[in-house]
Amino acid sequence: MANCPANRPIRTVGNPAKLAIGVYPDPPVVVGFAGDGNGGGHGTAGPQIGRGRGILWLKLEQENPFGSIKDRVAYSLLSSIFESGVLCRGIIESTSGNLGVALARYAQICGVEFTAVVDPRTSRKLVRQMRSADAKIVEVAEPDETGGYLLSRLAYIRDRMAAEDLLVWPNQYENPANPRAHSEGTAPEIFSTVPHGELDVFLGVSTGGTVRGFTDYVERNRLSWRCVAVDEVGSVALGGPPATRSLNGIGASRSSSFVDGRACLNVKVTAAEAVAACDWPGVCSGCPVIH
Ligand SMILES: Cc1ncc(COP(=O)(O)O)c(C=O)c1O
Repeated sequence: MANCPANRPIRTVGNPAKLAIGVYPDPPVVVGFAGDGNGGGHGTAGPQIGRGRGILWLKLEQENPFGSIKDRVAYSLLSSIFESGVLCRGIIESTSGNLGVALARYAQICGVEFTAVVDPRTSRKLVRQMRSADAKIVEVAEPDETGGYLLSRLAYIRDRMAAEDLLVWPNQYENPANPRAHSEGTAPEIFSTVPHGELDVFLGVSTGGTVRGFTDYVERNRLSWRCVAVDEVGSVALGGPPATRSLNGIGASRSSSFVDGRACLNVKVTAAEAVAACDWPGVCSGCPVIH
């Protein structure tokens, strides 16, 4: 983000919204946008980013030390393990990539062996990053019955856990340390950065840890934020029929343990819609918001 001028105001052509993006050069970086309050819906087409009036705030989590929002979860999961005092020779976790990179780096710092269980869809760049942090990589090749790989990854881990002593599985899918990373980190950071008041918060879903962390924070502090879970068509994280998916990191082939899809605002997008939405603010502002 070094090329982005701070607080650069822009207007979009053909868009009724007045769009202003504020760029904060030091991580964690937040760029802003406030919606018109009409977004959201229980499983409907829901919020249309860029069509409301207001300011869009983009939280640039790629500015975290190891490149994604999953840095927070990795730190929180490992802390929960070390603080519990459990004996641990090695750590194993299922990952679509980003969590694995962060776990690999933190495990390397802590001198603990880390095995990342990935699948053929995992980005080769992220696999290289994990390897360069001394992670052992196991790639499951068999898709599960939903057409994804998550269930196959989890089956592999359960087999390893049954066979090996002192191997610890942080289990990002069920460990409360996952949503806690967001209720105690990500959400309060946004609260302390954006002007207080109504806010529609759009959150990607895989384990549902981010959404759960945010909804916990909102309830605890009685905020007038609406949290909208953004899932991929074909994901069963929040319910719905399974289908082949192509996004990596968003969506899941098992339902979330943290979030009930019937009870939270959510929207399902196609991969093409997701890519277009990610491109849009960068095109408008001239600031690269994704790598
Ligand atoms: C970049 C990114 N955003 C969002 C998510 C989804 O987060 P959660 O697992 O908390 O639902 C992931 C999951 O891997 C991710 O890598």
